[in-house]
Amino acid sequence: DSDRMNIAIDGPAGAGKSTVARKVAGQLGYVYIDTGAMYRAVTYTAQRAGVSPEQTARLAELTRSLQIDLRPGDHGQSVYVNGEDVTASIRSREVTLQVSYYAAIESVREVLGTLQRQLAARKGVVMDGRDIGSHVLPDAELKVFLTASVEERAARRYREISDSQSITLRQLESEIAERDRLDEQRAISPLVCASDAVVLDSTGMTIDEVVAAIVKLSRTKLAEAK
Ligand code: CDP
Ligand code: CDP
Repeated sequence: DSDRMNIAIDGPAGAGKSTVARKVAGQLGYVYIDTGAMYRAVTYTAQRAGVSPEQTARLAELTRSLQIDLRPGDHGQSVYVNGEDVTASIRSREVTLQVSYYAAIESVREVLGTLQRQLAARKGVVMDGRDIGSHVLPDAELKVFLTASVEERAARRYREISDSQSITLRQLESEIAERDRLDEQRAISPLVCASDAVVLDSTGMTIDEVVAAIVKLSRTKLAEAK
């Protein structure tokens, strides 16, 4: 279908990727795929099985044994691993603090990257992550590198947490900065802005403004392709 394209949205933590990608997909009638949720699902399952990122052979075996499904749910996307709903579990602090270590392992990236390419094969996909435009879907018709200042990204995440007592804004900011550093510095498919990506700095922008900007870019790309 020549009327459909793939859209890659990459960027650091808290930039608004998943919120914006879901809405863009809704407006275009596309499928949204949250690749961060896949890395979180592997992390959660490995932690529960007592497998550390250093145990590379066990981790590879475990990752290959997982059936990861993303299903549209009532509140966005539900994530299933081998039939079990892990949607809430993969957002825990324990997973968030460890996920970048698991995501740096070659076998994990290979398995998830293959799955992601399969899901995008028929086009009409909005996929968000860290390496989608640069590595997973280098031929995506539209690539967006979505960013915002680390202060704003931390403040956005802070507002999401109801029991803010348990963590300070400062602490959250340093954890986000550390995860960005790990994601940018890993050897295999690090977080990087693809050379042909459109950079969108969302500092001071509302969600709807960012969504509108990306939908407009997609319409321009589609018109160009005709
Ligand atoms: O939503 P948030 O920004 O907290 O993170 P996420 O998108 O759920 O991704 C969690 C982690 O998964 C990232 O910090 C990366 O370490 C890893 N990830 C990755 O390596 N490659 C991707 N394409 C997506 C996520
Ligand atoms: O997926 P990513 O980690 O890039 O970010 P997100 O989870 O989509 O967004 C983090 C938080 O920032 C969410 O609570 C969004 O509602 C909020 N947000 C915002 O306030 N303004 C924006 N322009 C984008 C996101």
